[in-house]
Amino acid sequence: MGVEKLVSPVGLPPSRHNGCMTTVFAIETSCDESAAAIVRDRRVIASVVASQIDLHRRTGGIVPEVASREHLLTLNPVIAECFEQSGLTWDAIDGIAVTAAPGLVGSLLMGVTAAKTLALINNKPLIAVHHHEGHIYSAYLSDPMLEPPFACLLVSGGHTSLVAVEGHGHYRTLGQTRDDAVGEAYDKVARLLDLGYPGGPQIDKLAQVGNPRAFALPGGRMDHPYDTSFSGLKTAVLRLVEKQRALGLTVDRADLAASFQHTVVEALVKRTLAAMEELNTQTVVVAGGVAANRGLRVRLDTATRARGTRAIFPPFEYCTDNAAMIACAGAERLARGCRSSLGVGVYSRLRLEESAVLYDSTC
Ligand code: KG4
Ligand code: ZN
Repeated sequence: MGVEKLVSPVGLPPSRHNGCMTTVFAIETSCDESAAAIVRDRRVIASVVASQIDLHRRTGGIVPEVASREHLLTLNPVIAECFEQSGLTWDAIDGIAVTAAPGLVGSLLMGVTAAKTLALINNKPLIAVHHHEGHIYSAYLSDPMLEPPFACLLVSGGHTSLVAVEGHGHYRTLGQTRDDAVGEAYDKVARLLDLGYPGGPQIDKLAQVGNPRAFALPGGRMDHPYDTSFSGLKTAVLRLVEKQRALGLTVDRADLAASFQHTVVEALVKRTLAAMEELNTQTVVVAGGVAANRGLRVRLDTATRARGTRAIFPPFEYCTDNAAMIACAGAERLARGCRSSLGVGVYSRLRLEESAVLYDSTC
């Protein structure tokens, strides 16, 4: 299947670094983190994240109702702490950004309601932001001079895709997961191996000391060059664990974690390099919680360097959900004249290409 090469579409405002010169306050509550941040000129002035991990560890995963109730309790203190860290007052804020899609509806509503209220009280423009656009913009926190076009590998707990970033706010999804998101596969395999929640960081850690070639696992062969599938891999791990246990053997968790991680990383790197080649781009941004994965970082960094290209990873603390990335994306939108109405809704599902529904004006 062919894809068009990456070029800035005609008619778009020229790429410029001053898109984020404004000071933006942002809220992120799409899943299980209550977060607030202030970003100016692609630099983080303050960022606070209250994680609900301990709460959800008890149930081995997120219960949506519990998550939204927790946001209700934590969001106000998080916002207060963010302003305290920054030393700024509302006078210094040019706009308020908030994640409005995709995510858990109850959780999104908590952040969006708070942002609308603050926008109304302080008379500031509201900018609703697509969560995945936020993840993409976390790369600008690593490299403030970065400009589209580039390719993006988006790998999180709820999402896996390869995206052509053609310009600010202009996306073309090249491929995505047919079943489990990569972070979801990590979390499910970690549960199988009794490694706790969330599983990604645990498997990553264990994989460093295991043999990546101990078990041959299926990488999810596809008839599409950029789509991924991880449910077969997850089932293969389950069967392997069951078989070993039936034989009275204990599974070497480090070897299995290393083999699983090796299989996932190879599948992602292969598709990423193919997309970069077809798009004829020098840069790939890796975004989302799984961008924190050490195996993926090392392998993709080496592979891109060997081709004279580069992979940009966000700073570790901005890989998983945070509000700084939402503020950075919001600042760029604000500079381009995007505004959301106080009636803007929340969406549990929304494609990146459909982000325009979040704005009143064409931007
Ligand atoms: O982006 P994120 O914070 O939330 C979503 O938008 O989904 O991603 C969370 C996911 C979880 O599935 C977590 O297990 C995974 O990112 N994750 C990792 C690592 N750190 C977090 N997966 C693999 N290796 C890691 N080091
Ligand atoms: Zn996320």
